[in-house]
Formats: sequence, structure tokens, C-alpha cells
Amino acid sequence: MRINKNTTITGKNVILVPYRKEHVEKYHEWMKSEELQQLTGSEPLSLQEEYAMQKSWLMDENKCTFIVLSKLKYEETKDEIASMVGDTNLFFANCDDRLCAEVEIMIAEEWARGQKCGWEATSLMLMYGITYLGVKQFIVKISYVNEISIRMFEKLGFVEVSRSHVFQEVTMVKIVDGGWIDWLKQNLGVWKVFEGSE
Ligand SMILES: CC(C)(COP(=O)(O)OP(=O)(O)OC[C@H]1O[C@@H](n2cnc3c(N)ncnc32)[C@H](O)[C@@H]1OP(=O)(O)O)[C@@H](O)C(=O)NCCC(=O)NCCS
Repeated sequence: MRINKNTTITGKNVILVPYRKEHVEKYHEWMKSEELQQLTGSEPLSLQEEYAMQKSWLMDENKCTFIVLSKLKYEETKDEIASMVGDTNLFFANCDDRLCAEVEIMIAEEWARGQKCGWEATSLMLMYGITYLGVKQFIVKISYVNEISIRMFEKLGFVEVSRSHVFQEVTMVKIVDGGWIDWLKQNLGVWKVFEGSE
């Protein structure tokens, strides 16, 4: 999506930056993991395909992608690549209009898991979707086996609406309302959106 191509979002523990060419190599390394492929429902791509995907996502008005950085690591190293821990996306293609977005999250680096990075990156993405893209409803599709993610989205207020035995996944939904926005804001504390230049 072009709207976030120069956008940086900072929270307490994570920084979200647009998915750029320099991130592709590390992202590609992550996605060689069969565990991550299974948990995120992804197909392995060649490095060349991954570069093409990064380029196409940037121009795709149905996909909003951010790379998740560990804020602590970035403050220590000032090295964006070394600080990469995962990614988060909003995807609009399966919905009737742009009011409904599918949310995706991955904390690929095991050392960064269990430290609220997934929770915070997802919450920031939800707030970005609500505030900047006008999203009114979120859905998430999670593999049956991914209990951690199911628990996290339940805690974020999502409720199960269906199960697909074919895809072995559960679909959960959250309709945006004022009370939920206040709750998300309260949980997030201070978060900021910066619009950079070209
Ligand atoms: C699922 C995932 C995003 C969670 O991110 P994380 O940074 O590890 O988790 P957080 O520290 O933010 O914890 C958020 C919630 O997840 C749940 N959770 C996290 N780690 C857990 C664990 N080891 N056991 C049980 N629940 C756990 C808890 O509900 C937790 O909330 P709590 O701390 O208030 O109890 C991350 O583990 C991940 O990316 N895994 C691989 C890819 C994937 O599964 N993506 C999701 C596809 S839908």
C-alpha cells in the first residue's frame, strides 16, 4: 500500500516500519522455517519471488505491511536489520469493501517472543487500521494448532465465528466500537505515527 510507504509507528516495545527492499533477505530466511510456514499458512518462496512480492505489496492497495522491530534492540544497535523480529499486515481482498480487514502477525525471532511484541505490534496495526484506513471490522484466520495466537486474539476481544476443517483453521472477528478503541489505547499507552519523506 502506498499510504504507509514512509510511515513509522512507535510503541513501548516495538517500532513498525514499512517493508522495504533491505528487509527481504532476512524475511526470506525466516520463511524457510517449516514451523513458521505452518503457523502463518504461508508457502515458501525463492529469494527472487520474495523481492517481487515486496515490490508488489508496496503498490497493492489491498495490502498494508509493516516490519516489526524490537525497540530495545534498535536503540542499542541503531541497526534496523538486526532489530527485525517479525511482520504484521492488513489485507482487504477477502472483504466486500475496504471497511473490513484481515489481520496477520508474525513474531519470527524466537528470542523476541513472549515479551508482548506480538500483542503490541497487533494493537498498533489495529489502531493504524482504524485511524488511518477507516477499518470497521477485523478478521483473523488462525491454524487450529496455533493456541498461542488464538489466545492472544481472544484477549484482544476477537470471537470465533467459524471453523474450516478443510483449511484446519478458525476464523475470529472483532467489530470496531468506541469502548474497544478506548481499551486498546489504554493498553498501548503512548504510541506515535511519523510520516517521513521520500
Ligand atoms: C502468536 C504470536 C504473534 C504471539 O506473539 P508474542 O510476542 O510471542 O506474544 P506476546 O508476548 O505478545 O503475548 C500475547 C498473548 O499471547 C499469549 N501467549 C504468548 N506466549 C504464550 C505461551 N508461550 N503460551 C501461552 N500463551 C501465550 C498470551 O495470551 C499472551 O497474553 P498474556 O501475556 O497477557 O497472557 C507469536 O508467538 C508468533 O508470531 N508465533 C509464530 C507465528 C504465528 O503464530 N503467527 C500468528 C498467525 S495467526
